[in-house]
Amino acid sequence: MNNTKPTPGNPAQIILDGKTIECPTFVGTENEKAFDISKLRDSTGYVTFDNGYANSSPTTSSVTFLDGDKGILQYRGYPIEQLAEQATFLETAWLLINGEFPTKAELDTFNSEIVANQNVDANFAKIFDAFPRNAHPMAMLTAATVGLSTVYSSETDPANKDHTKKSLLRLLGQFPALTAYAYRHGKGEARVGPKAGLDYCSNFMHMMYAKDDSYSVPKEIVSALNLLLILHADHEQNCSTSTVRLVGSSAANLYASIAAGITALWGPLHGGANQAVMEMLQAIQKDGGDVNKAVASAKDKNSSFKLMGFGHRVYKNFDPRAKIIKKACDQVLAKMGINNPLLDIAKRLEEAALKDSYFVEKKLYPNVDFYSGIIYSALNIPTEMFTPMFALGRMPGWIAQWKEMVDGGTTKIGRPRQIYTGYTKRDLKR
Ligand code: CMC
Repeated sequence: MNNTKPTPGNPAQIILDGKTIECPTFVGTENEKAFDISKLRDSTGYVTFDNGYANSSPTTSSVTFLDGDKGILQYRGYPIEQLAEQATFLETAWLLINGEFPTKAELDTFNSEIVANQNVDANFAKIFDAFPRNAHPMAMLTAATVGLSTVYSSETDPANKDHTKKSLLRLLGQFPALTAYAYRHGKGEARVGPKAGLDYCSNFMHMMYAKDDSYSVPKEIVSALNLLLILHADHEQNCSTSTVRLVGSSAANLYASIAAGITALWGPLHGGANQAVMEMLQAIQKDGGDVNKAVASAKDKNSSFKLMGFGHRVYKNFDPRAKIIKKACDQVLAKMGINNPLLDIAKRLEEAALKDSYFVEKKLYPNVDFYSGIIYSALNIPTEMFTPMFALGRMPGWIAQWKEMVDGGTTKIGRPRQIYTGYTKRDLKR
């Protein structure tokens, strides 16, 4: 597996209180440069301050590379455009977790191992019955994911490679069923388990929608789903993945770490944006379809309204996933003979924003969440299930990043510093 150690560079010099301090520097394989401030406090008493970790790397990683200025995204070196066109989700999952594209034999074994682990314990599945009918599926999925650790409690040691392998297969195997169970619970429908002989995506759709054994999924749906899952499969140190790593750095097990990642993903500034985009487009439609009004409101600093599905911490040119999804959106809707007026609103909104100096100057472009919901709707997936779909896709990335950290064995517990700004010492007088 390619995991080159960063190349050391010339030391950086920092002048603090008249003293020059040297910090080691290093360069990654794609020429990203860093200087190491981990010893800065010991020698100077200073910590670094970086709101929202906007310019900090707590780790090196060989899983995913992205260049936000050039709009490049690569999993293990392979461009996302090539994977989207040529790979399946399971191949992509294997690639992310193991570092290389699978051979036919490796893929066959991986597939059978996932199939062997895809049945959710029937007693445990009753956890869904305890939730209110209107519970958000992301809340149910968080509980169910960490809950899996109770089913396999004797096999969750992060330091045990056999436990890790079993845990990752159980997560990849059972998360589709858990997602479908969360959906069915909301609808008040009986749970339908996996069906033998189906590929990963078809099996998921079967568990979501089958009324009986005659259910079959059109191939356009399977390939659209496959594409969406690949596009969401990893995105280096984003909010949820950093959460998975942070929780895992305390030696918490894989289920617990990933459940924490699911809660981070739920937020509307992260994965929850796909649901928020759909709700925004519906609100614009209800309001008469005036996209310029929405753009004006997003620019208004007195309003908390943002253009959901726009902007990105790292991409300052375009999000390559959004480009692929926009094209797929047209193709899927055309193939399925669907005319969704929200697609027209989305396109007009994008056009209006991209012409507006506020969005141009701040380099705000549509992100992965802008068009994905319109495809999910075409696949009959309801709005509140959009973020669970993101989680289903992101599962291999979370696993790969957690495993990289644990296998590397060098990561310290994540424990940031702070600059305290509260009261100085005072006495309690009662
Ligand atoms: N609409 C209007 N203004 C925006 C938007 C937006 N969508 N995004 C950023 N801005 C403004 C922001 O107000 C700020 O303005 P100013 O400099 O005047 O204070 C400037 O652009 C920089 O934004 P920021 O919030 O400092 O940037 P960030 O890197 O901290 O946040 C973001 C990135 C994605 C959270 C943010 O762009 C946003 O909230 N977008 C909408 C939510 C969204 O689509 N999230 C999905 C992200 S991609 C998928 C994923 O991560 O899951």
